[in-house]
Amino acid sequence: MHRNSQKYYDLLYKAQGKDYQAECTDLAALIKEHHAAATTVLDVGCGTATHARILRDDFNLEVDGSDIDPDMIAIARQKVPEGTFDVADMVTMDIGRQYDAVVSMFSAIGYVKTKERMFDAIKSMAKHVKEDGILIVEPWLKPDVFTHGGLYMDTANEDGIKLCRISRNEVENGISRLNFHWTVGTTVGIETFEEVLELGLFSIEDMLEGFNAANMQAEHFEMENRFSNRGMYIARHKPA
Ligand SMILES: C[S@@+](CC[C@H](N)C(=O)[O-])C[C@H]1O[C@@H](n2cnc3c(N)ncnc32)[C@H](O)[C@@H]1O
Repeated sequence: MHRNSQKYYDLLYKAQGKDYQAECTDLAALIKEHHAAATTVLDVGCGTATHARILRDDFNLEVDGSDIDPDMIAIARQKVPEGTFDVADMVTMDIGRQYDAVVSMFSAIGYVKTKERMFDAIKSMAKHVKEDGILIVEPWLKPDVFTHGGLYMDTANEDGIKLCRISRNEVENGISRLNFHWTVGTTVGIETFEEVLELGLFSIEDMLEGFNAANMQAEHFEMENRFSNRGMYIARHKPA
């Protein structure tokens, strides 16, 4: 959970240079390549719905979203008032509609932490995919890529707000822990707070097993220098 930092999410990733416009160009192309007639999309773990906003505006896709965090959903609803955005845990969600494409971007799947819950999350995402639809999942880092002791700092510096987020990463029992220390200054004052995010480190084999258990045929793509450089899974229902 992003707990205290939801309102700084867009500012932080803009400052990091995360290019949602380029991602949406690539994502829309992937959706069309694998399902030419797709018009409806559910974004699971949609966060502040920047993908949804751009996919609707520039690619004519009707995008809804879901996220476990009510504060993220509040921002999403403001950003995309014409969409439907539900507070829902991807492990158990049932939002009562199926889509041509279900997508889950920027490692939201990692937050379910355990392999068992990842299997359940893929199953519940699969339930929201139409019979001829596709499921696209951008994973978190693989176990061999995440470094115990890794030290990171991100900053944003705009008129009226300065922020700094430092993390020292740890790994324990296959779970990565990001210990974030935030300092945020505005004209009103300066606040500091800590946030701990825990994400499961799943191998490609684990993930493919998860899709298989959900009766989906999946392929893994490296996506070098595209999206967050973390790869992508594209899956469809196995024939009955
Ligand atoms: C790194 S953010 C990605 C947000 C958005 N997809 C993007 O690309 O900017 C991960 C998101 O996953 C959400 N999340 C974490 N656990 C979840 C769960 N069990 N079910 C649904 N969403 C979850 C978080 O609240 C957060 O908004």
